[in-house]
Amino acid sequence: MTQPALSPRFTNAFAEAVHAGLSHRPQKELPSMYLYDEVGSALFEVITALPEYGVTRAEERVLTAHAADIVAALPKHVQVAELGSGSGRKTRRILEALCKKQPTDYYPIEISRTALQLCRRELGDIERISIVGYERDYLAGLAEVSARRRDGEVLLVLFLGSTIGNFSRLAATKFLQSIRGMLKPGDALLLGTDLLKPLPTLIAAYDDAIGVTAAFNLNLLARINRELGGDFPIDAFEHVARFNPDARSIEMHLRAKRPLTVTVRATDLRVEFREGETIWTESSHKYAAEEVAPIAADAGFGCTHQWRDDTWGFAESLLVAR
Ligand code: AVI
Repeated sequence: MTQPALSPRFTNAFAEAVHAGLSHRPQKELPSMYLYDEVGSALFEVITALPEYGVTRAEERVLTAHAADIVAALPKHVQVAELGSGSGRKTRRILEALCKKQPTDYYPIEISRTALQLCRRELGDIERISIVGYERDYLAGLAEVSARRRDGEVLLVLFLGSTIGNFSRLAATKFLQSIRGMLKPGDALLLGTDLLKPLPTLIAAYDDAIGVTAAFNLNLLARINRELGGDFPIDAFEHVARFNPDARSIEMHLRAKRPLTVTVRATDLRVEFREGETIWTESSHKYAAEEVAPIAADAGFGCTHQWRDDTWGFAESLLVAR
């Protein structure tokens, strides 16, 4: 998907991305990061509780069952940086286990200030933890955290929730390479990946019966209306979740139910939609458990351990920087 660079033409990155994405041919697209405004983040929290969306519960089961094993597999004393901490709920188990062994500095890295506040509230009661939030994008935040440590201090980076799945396979490898570039040999990365599973289960996870994921997706159009003066008629679009067998990903799209023209004031944009035409808003790549080690190796990590949840199909892999 297009990740637009900031140009002086528009005053904010969202406007820039909307202009580039809706002008993109033949497939209109919008970067998935913009799904997460305040409304979208709240809807995502609800998604994690839906019976159809097993990802978050599966990861919580793995971290609950194996927190002690994970901590035992780490070097003696680590500091922890988390990329995209969200509310911090999924991280509690691992931090509790770690804090039993050592006082722990925890650096959640998030572009959302609200998420950082929630995270501090959720995890601040753990004994022997010190939390310093970084309101940055992942790589900028990690560069700062990594640069400020003293010689001999080892870093554990958490990248949980299968957020890696929202990158293409190629972009995922490049992203892991960028992370590796900021680490020292012996530093570790705990990586959560959602696994391939039967199609009906996958589709239901991204198209739930009560329409929360549909609302999460449609909120992107509502956000354009709210923030950029768009005039998207929300009820003229419908949420679509479909499997792309070549990419091995679930794609979310917004499909126009009729031909229409939309304008977005802040981006000087007038866009035509044919009936049935879609805007591609997200891809969620699914992995085979055995795929993780070779991808990690390409990025300069060795996969030393993997813990799985077989009820849903989720893998937590411990990657150590070579
Ligand atoms: C954040 N990310 C890992 C979620 C996923 O499963 O790709 C986002 C999501 N989109 C729809 N449902 C959940």
